[in-house]
This record gives sequence, structure tokens and C-alpha cells, in this order.
Amino acid sequence: MTAALLGIDIGTSGCKALLLDPAGRVLAGETATYGLSQPRPGWSEQDPELWIEGARRAVAAVMARAGAVELIAIGLSGQMHGLTPLDAGGRVLRPAILWNDQRNGAECEAITAAAGGPEALLAATNNRMLVGYTGGKILWMKNHEPALFARLAHVLNPKDYLRYRLTGEFATEVSDASGTGLFDVRARRWAGGLIDRIGLNAGLLPPAFESHVVSGRVDARGAALFGLPAGVPVVGGGGDSVIQTIGSGVIAPGELQTTIGTAGIVAAALDTPRDNPDGRLQVFCNVAPDKWHCMGVSLFAGGALSWYRQTLAGEDGPLPDFDSLMAEAAQSPAGARGLLFLPYLNGERCPHPDPAARAAFIGLTARHRRADLTRAVMEGVVHALADMYGLMQATGIAGTIVKASGGGARAPLWRQMQADRFGCDVVTTEGAAEGGAFGAALVAGIGAGVWPDATHAAATCRNLTREHPDAAAGIVLGRAGTLYRGLYPLLAESFAALGQPPFDGGPDA
Ligand code: XUL
Repeated sequence: MTAALLGIDIGTSGCKALLLDPAGRVLAGETATYGLSQPRPGWSEQDPELWIEGARRAVAAVMARAGAVELIAIGLSGQMHGLTPLDAGGRVLRPAILWNDQRNGAECEAITAAAGGPEALLAATNNRMLVGYTGGKILWMKNHEPALFARLAHVLNPKDYLRYRLTGEFATEVSDASGTGLFDVRARRWAGGLIDRIGLNAGLLPPAFESHVVSGRVDARGAALFGLPAGVPVVGGGGDSVIQTIGSGVIAPGELQTTIGTAGIVAAALDTPRDNPDGRLQVFCNVAPDKWHCMGVSLFAGGALSWYRQTLAGEDGPLPDFDSLMAEAAQSPAGARGLLFLPYLNGERCPHPDPAARAAFIGLTARHRRADLTRAVMEGVVHALADMYGLMQATGIAGTIVKASGGGARAPLWRQMQADRFGCDVVTTEGAAEGGAFGAALVAGIGAGVWPDATHAAATCRNLTREHPDAAAGIVLGRAGTLYRGLYPLLAESFAALGQPPFDGGPDA
């Protein structure tokens, strides 16, 4: 029987399961999709049962496809920061409030004030309490849903809820714990003093393991629910955007990872918990126990192109597919004939932590065609990535190669734009397009002793494609990027006003 590692990733748009052999080869992968609900402007929720149903379908499909395998360990990954609130019996109290939800600005300010101000908060956690993080959501529930809050007994992130359903254990690991904003990232433990100061019961939070450590084993209920053998060890795993770096082979200095998934991410592995001066970046624990992780997260990247395709690019007939949209965009020159797109479709996190930020096309003329608009959307996403890399460079992080991942990395045009804008080679690696599930399977392999450490596990990620920068396009995109960077400060006040009555701000009709 082939030995296999199972990685399961609870994504925002679907659950991916993937089986990996001990040589790092993918034996089978499957995604089961599900939806997301946005009941009010800026709100973003999901019923955790969708994740469990998605995981059941995806796991059943890969197990059936792979034939007879001996599962040696399971690793979990998932969208970070989602508040999954459970009562004392482990029942879900309300739909999970997701990473891209923007409702809790006031609670984040209250936490910052209770911590003693932004500097004191950075000293405690090395992170701001960003609106997406779990901490502010817990306080939102306390302030707005007191009856439910009174029954709250466990706070879990999405992949940790799956762990609970697989193993019966309440547990998390250091990378997802970092994303609550309540974790002392430098010391790799809960920030007890901060949790006390904001009046939260520390018992709501689960124990936080290192990511490769076995946190439990599939129990009888998990075995029956997911059709898996009981007793298989389940390692900590990792938050998707952290675990995806190892899944792209990024572990050494000089390597950058970009992700164009729903969100856009620029990330690097760090040997020390580098200071996060104004807290706009996210400095988290890496899934390797001796490393940390720095990233910027822009909320709409691939999500911006999907929105554009559905909303603007469709004619009366069926929606154009992504490949034909991109083939068309390749006809428009670098700079999209003077058209810029700001991708802040649901507020923004980095480099502008502003829930009121809005998207915009700037520079439209009657000459522009759909090809230019598509190109502008794609370039806007790359400018957002470059803006975040600019913040990282200011802290001393420098990359000489970009390893691209996420659905957007499948598009040669998007990879080429990144090479041109970052001015270095862009590669894709085997497994990276599989998202967090691949990294989760690698981390499961470290836990099971298949690889001695993260460096050896990352070395299994072989390069698949390579794009070189084009100097002429790089100059145009660099200039466009400077103009792009100047736009948000000019428009921020207007964005805030447009989000208020009489223009907007109530529930959707
Ligand atoms: C990371 C983040 C997103 C989600 C989406 O901080 O918010 O990457 O994890 O998957």
C-alpha cells in the first residue's frame, strides 16, 4: 500500500483535499466549492457546516481516486482569522465571521486602547489589531450579541473547527493563533496580559501547538463522518497564507512568495521575529518552529477579477471564461493605455488598513475597450502586491526571486506582470497551485517524520515555470505603480463619504 499524507484546506470558496506521497508527489486532489454570505455591506459570513460538508466530499473523492493508501498523517490548513464560536457542547452559535469581514473597527480601537495604545499593542503581539483579525470579532459578539456571547465557551479558527470534528480536540497552532491578534508572536504563546486587559476569558482560546506537532487523532466520530480510519494523527497545520509559503518552497532569505487567490499576498520567511514598525504588515509565527513569517494581505486580488468578470465583462450571453478574458487583456499594452484600477472592493487591509476604501477605475476614456479594462484590473492587483512589498523592503526584507501561487499563478500574463513589476524572475513550483492543502500535507509529513524539518520539506517543491522580467514593460509598470500609489491618499475621504447615507451604508436591498 502506498503511504500517503492528507492535506485539507478550508478555503473561502471551497474545501480542497489532497493526497501526497512521501516523495512529495500529488496522488489526488479535489475541491468541493461552497458559497459565502454577505448579509450587509462589509459583512462576510459562512456556515461552518458548509466546511464540514465540503471536507467530507473532497476527502471522499481523493480517497476513492487514490485507491489503497495507508494514511500516515493529516495536516489542516484554512482561511485565517475566522471566528467560529461554539457553546460548551461544541455546537456552533452563529455563522462564522470571516477574515474579510469589516464590521468591527470600533472593537479593534477599543482593544488597542485597552492594550495601552498602538505601541503597547505592538509590544505585546508585534501586530496591530486589524479589522480582519479574530480578537475584534470576539469583542463584537460581546457588544452586539450578548445573549449568544453568554453561551460562548470555545473560539476556533476555521481549520481548527475541522480538527474538532475530526478528533474531538479543541486546539490550534502558532500560525493561526498569531492571526487572532491575541498572540505573543515573539514568544510563541498567548498574550495573557493583553487578554486579561481586554476582559476576555483566556479559557475561550484553545491550546496553541507548534504547527508540525500532533494535536490529536481521528476519533470514532471523525472516522464515521469523514470515512477515514480512526487513529490517524492530525498535526497542527497552519493558516492558509502562512502554510502556503512552505507549500511554494519559500523558507530561505531572499525568496518572496506571492499569492493571487481571493486575496493577494506577498510573504517571506524570517529567521527572527522582525519588528513590525507601524503594524501594517503581519508578522506571524511560521509553521517552522524556528522561523517567523512576514506578509502583506490585500483583500481583493483574484476576487477582483472574478467580480469584474461577473459584473462588467459579461455580455447578455454567458460569462466570458477567464482564459479568453486574459487572452484579450494580452492585446492591451503594459499600462493599459493609461488606465489604472484600485482593487479595494470590500475595504482594504494592507497597505491601507481602511474598511471604507473603495475600488476605482482611474483614467477611463472612450477609447478604452474591454481588453484594457481587464488588463487594468490585473495590473491593479500587481500594483497592490508591489505596494505591500515596498513596506517589506522598508523593514529590510529583499527578494531576488518571486514564487507565485494561488489560482492567479496559473495565468502566464499575471506571472509576467509580476516579473515586470518586481524586476526579478517569477517561478511557479509543483504543488503551489494546490494552495494551503499542499503545505498542510508537507507539515503533516514533518510531524510524521517523513522530512526532518521545514527546509527539507520545502525542497520537494520543484520549479515548473519561469518568467523573466521585461525591462521596457517594467519601466511602464513602475511609473504606473507610482501613480497608483498616489491615488488612495487623494481618494480616501471621498471613499469614506460614499460609504455613508444617503449613498450607502444600510443593508442591501
Ligand atoms: C491572511 C488572510 C487571508 C485569509 C484568506 O491574513 O486574511 O489570506 O487567510 O484565505
